[in-house]
Amino acid sequence: MKHPILIQGAMDSELTLLIQATAPHKFEQVGNFRFWKGAVADTPVVICKTGIGVINAAAATALAVQRYSPRCILNQGTAGAHTRALAVGDVIVGEQVCYLSSFSTERSRGEDPLNPWKPAAFQSPEGETISYHANEVMLRAAKAALADEPRVTFGCIGSGDLWTRDPSSLQALHDMHGTLCEEMEAAAVYLTANNLGVPVLSIRVISNNEGTGEPFDPNSALRAQELTLKLLSFLHT
Ligand code: 5AD
Repeated sequence: MKHPILIQGAMDSELTLLIQATAPHKFEQVGNFRFWKGAVADTPVVICKTGIGVINAAAATALAVQRYSPRCILNQGTAGAHTRALAVGDVIVGEQVCYLSSFSTERSRGEDPLNPWKPAAFQSPEGETISYHANEVMLRAAKAALADEPRVTFGCIGSGDLWTRDPSSLQALHDMHGTLCEEMEAAAVYLTANNLGVPVLSIRVISNNEGTGEPFDPNSALRAQELTLKLLSFLHT
């Protein structure tokens, strides 16, 4: 039997189209984690609702790898822009993921008593950002699949249990880590997949840009799913 492709989304709005398109023949639930077993063409697909946040995403990924032995993991959904150059609807393909929920303080609070926490552990002592990596074969497939799509950027996704609204904080994160956007699952998915030796890639569609004031657009979740389906046809061999 062929190993399935695992597709993940955090929320129902990021999954409805995918569930429709893969015509599931079986639904399975483990605790709060939900899985739909279906197919596209003759490629088996398991869709997983991870829930929101890195803790949910780590557990959902480990569980899915154990249960379904996927040949690869496609994580997809929405994200907020880290730069004013990106607009709602733009596509980010995660060559790397940088974990943003790791902090430390100085011994003295200094002049910043209300918010002394600084991004810390995910930089090396030399100040270099430590990131997790996507699978090269999947990246090549994404380049081919998205070649004729407008406004696609390959680069670093910032990921953690955070929602950054202040434009100067967004710019600081972008300058510090080179992150193009932020979301709440990909770091856990990449780390778990890397640890278990499963190829992984995340595709995100910009749903909001706090820097330019563009509010959350729910259509971004649909676009992420459409592009995921497009990429799927380049992944099954
Ligand atoms: N910051 C953090 N997460 C975001 N998401 C969309 N935009 C942002 C943002 N600006 C995604 C997360 C999470 C859900 C709330 O939306 O990945 O799953």
